[in-house]
Amino acid sequence: MTEFAPVDPTSTDAWSQLAGIAEGFSPDLREWFATDPGRAGRYTLQAGDLTVDLSKNLLTEEILAHLVQLAKDVDVSGRFNAMITGEHINVTEDRAVLHTALRRPKNGADLVPPTGFVVDGADVDADVHATLDKVYAFADKVRSGAWTGITGKAIKTVVNIGIGGSDLGPVMVYEALKPYVQAGLECRFVSNIDPTDVYEKTANLDPETTLFIVASKTFGTLETLTNARLAREWLWNQLLASGAIEDTDAARAAAVAKHFVAVSTALDKVAAFGIDPENAFGFWDWVGGRFSIDSAIGTSVVVAIGPDNWREFLSGFHTIDEHMRTAPLEQNVPVLMGLLNVWYSNFLKAQSHAVLPYAQYLHRFPAYLQQLTMESNGKSVRWDGTSVTTDTGEIFWGEPGTNGQHAFYQLIHQGTRLVPADFIAVANPAHPLKDETGDGAAVEPGQDVHGLFMANFFAQTKALAFGKTAAEVRAEGTDESVVPARSFSGNRPTTSILAPALTPSVVGQLIALYEHIVFTEGTIWGIDSFDQWGVELGKQLALQVAPAVDGDADALAAQDSSTKALISKYLELRN
Ligand code: F6P
Repeated sequence: MTEFAPVDPTSTDAWSQLAGIAEGFSPDLREWFATDPGRAGRYTLQAGDLTVDLSKNLLTEEILAHLVQLAKDVDVSGRFNAMITGEHINVTEDRAVLHTALRRPKNGADLVPPTGFVVDGADVDADVHATLDKVYAFADKVRSGAWTGITGKAIKTVVNIGIGGSDLGPVMVYEALKPYVQAGLECRFVSNIDPTDVYEKTANLDPETTLFIVASKTFGTLETLTNARLAREWLWNQLLASGAIEDTDAARAAAVAKHFVAVSTALDKVAAFGIDPENAFGFWDWVGGRFSIDSAIGTSVVVAIGPDNWREFLSGFHTIDEHMRTAPLEQNVPVLMGLLNVWYSNFLKAQSHAVLPYAQYLHRFPAYLQQLTMESNGKSVRWDGTSVTTDTGEIFWGEPGTNGQHAFYQLIHQGTRLVPADFIAVANPAHPLKDETGDGAAVEPGQDVHGLFMANFFAQTKALAFGKTAAEVRAEGTDESVVPARSFSGNRPTTSILAPALTPSVVGQLIALYEHIVFTEGTIWGIDSFDQWGVELGKQLALQVAPAVDGDADALAAQDSSTKALISKYLELRN
């Protein structure tokens, strides 16, 4: 067990003070802004390239002081320090938690801990950079065409096969950094064990120019290994059909050697699959799956965007790691955003948190964050095995704006539930298109479309914060019968995050920001944010149920009556 026994946050004076404020709390953002011209300036902070405006949150100086005191009481800074120096803060798996080490610069001066620090007998920096160098050399070979398929053709499509952290990170970052992808290269991502996924992703692919990356930390995940076998079968069948290889075991093995590489911590299992360990990139059990995009798990993206952009991506993470480590708590963006989440979920009873990127390239960011936040903090016991003392793990969800505006924003604006939301945007778009014709009314000819997009970004947080009173609605001449339906209460909290552009560094900064928000909340609640035992039971039962689904009568008879009836219906319907 870690020497950092969890402090029960509910036993602190700060908690009692916050609970007292929450009772009968009636925030008034209109009034707070009207009477305090310094509010926006005071609550707008900088972390790396991210300008973060917290002022439209339901926050006062008094609340802020108690939240910061709460972070001190549970020692967020001390535990962060324990994490980055390699203490086994993942207690249920008895592991260090060192994703921050994945992005430390090579031989960086003034690093904390210093370059060459040793954890569990290994020089962490040396290991990380040796693997990075191997991934970079491989990526360069694929990008230059020096790595060829079995018939000597250069690779055009990289298919990453993985699930959870071995998929969501790579696909999200690939999508986010599309403008940086080398022309002529494409990545696809297979994750679901639904055979449709591998079928669709291999459709129209030329096997001679396709490279599969099997990405699995454990190399034991049912979905990934099944999909890898399906992909291998597809490769062999296609190459045999075109006469590119002969029907021999040696030819099949040679095809795998040229068209399959792996990323895993289990290199023995990689070899058993038939992939040469020379063509495998390792990482370590101190990298959690959902914290692994900046490890070799990102190899598909390194190939796509190249080592220089990847270095920039890693430096973005490191910038936020340093901010988290050094900024005073009162100005520490991830800590404050984590504390605000605690304020909303534990005291104001919010059950969910929306993340709304106003950047189409970030369209997979909410899905990525769902694993990061909910697999980490969806826990009911603390790291010493005792029950949690308060609610944990709010539900994270979202979609890119403006699509969400025409779907679920109605509930955020006028529903009965409190939904705190993060709005994320960049000032400079990758494609600065203009609407040359306009609409002859609201949209002028030559309108910068990104400007129009950003007007929505700014308008939404304004509407949510300040609402529209019944008097204002009436003053527009609205029929009295619909005044209530057309009024907006306001006081719906948002955080606005604005970056200069969606560069590799900014994407790294955004990911690290949310990693440390998760850390802050987990530390307040006293939970181990780095294990994921909750996914195990379903995995075990799927294997137990599989024979029944395949028609084994004894296995079917052993099921509960609901499951038995469902499987029987399935068997009846299945042709
Ligand atoms: O089942 C959950 C999980 O263990 C995630 O934490 C992980 O990201 C995912 O499965 C994939 O695991 P692996 O990389 O070992 O295949």
